[in-house]
Amino acid sequence: MNAVLIIGATSAIGAALAKECASKGWRLYLIGRNKERLATVAAEAEVRGAAKVETRVVDFGAVEKCQQLGEWIEKRNDLCRAVILPGVLSDEFASLVDWNQNVLVNFTVPAFLGRLIGEKLGENDDGGQLVLVGSVAGDRGRQSNGFYGAQKGALEIFANALRHRCYLKNRKVKVALVKPGFVNTPMTEQIKKNALFSEPEVIAQKILRILEKGGSKSYYAPGWWFFIMSIIKAVPNFIFYRTRL
Ligand SMILES: NC(=O)c1ccc[n+]([C@@H]2O[C@H](COP(=O)([O-])OP(=O)(O)OC[C@H]3O[C@@H](n4cnc5c(N)ncnc54)[C@H](OP(=O)(O)O)[C@@H]3O)[C@@H](O)[C@H]2O)c1
Repeated sequence: MNAVLIIGATSAIGAALAKECASKGWRLYLIGRNKERLATVAAEAEVRGAAKVETRVVDFGAVEKCQQLGEWIEKRNDLCRAVILPGVLSDEFASLVDWNQNVLVNFTVPAFLGRLIGEKLGENDDGGQLVLVGSVAGDRGRQSNGFYGAQKGALEIFANALRHRCYLKNRKVKVALVKPGFVNTPMTEQIKKNALFSEPEVIAQKILRILEKGGSKSYYAPGWWFFIMSIIKAVPNFIFYRTRL
């Protein structure tokens, strides 16, 4: 079994990861919202040597479609690795409807599918690897992106719980959460770039290493964000609240 499921394959990080996985000769199940972009990512994966590529278009905003995706995943018996990438950088002043949609994309659907995939991998004798994608924004509530940060923080708590649950069912199922810092992708196109930005390929390579070697904890991507976030988390409130972070 060497099939990998990439949910959010049309994201900048997901497309870079699909290329890496294809180069390994793995079988790919690619899920995305944008049909044309998904076809491009799939065609590139075939050129790079993927053993097989299957695609499926799903909008995380449509709950019944996510349910159907879950049923489809349950039938993929060669699945041993999965990554869940969709995310939306929420507008702090969006309407209630938009907020609801954002929670679906950033938390509810990744958690639902993560749980389902964890159960599925638990049926394999040799388990499998699941990677969820959080963010450094989930480490500490900040005035500039409290809503997005809260959802990514919740996803980390959920990943911890899922890891525990999977461990009890089949110790060979591993659950990792990758927390990128700033990445140069369409999500951050409005943000002025600085030296802290990484390219999507760097994050994709980190995820690939986890898929290959196995990982069952939270990982900063790149790893040096550990030092930055350790400082940010340690700053006392009486100083932190004077900043505009
Ligand atoms: N960029 C950063 O600085 C950064 C930092 C930390 C964490 N992250 C996380 O990294 C992950 C990948 O994001 P990215 O940086 O690669 O940005 P991106 O290229 O903008 O990708 C975001 C992806 O989410 C998908 N998406 C949004 N709403 C969706 C919906 N309703 N249904 C299905 N898919 C939906 C988008 O689909 P379409 O292709 O159809 O638009 C897109 O593929 C996200 O979870 C993000 O939160 C990013």
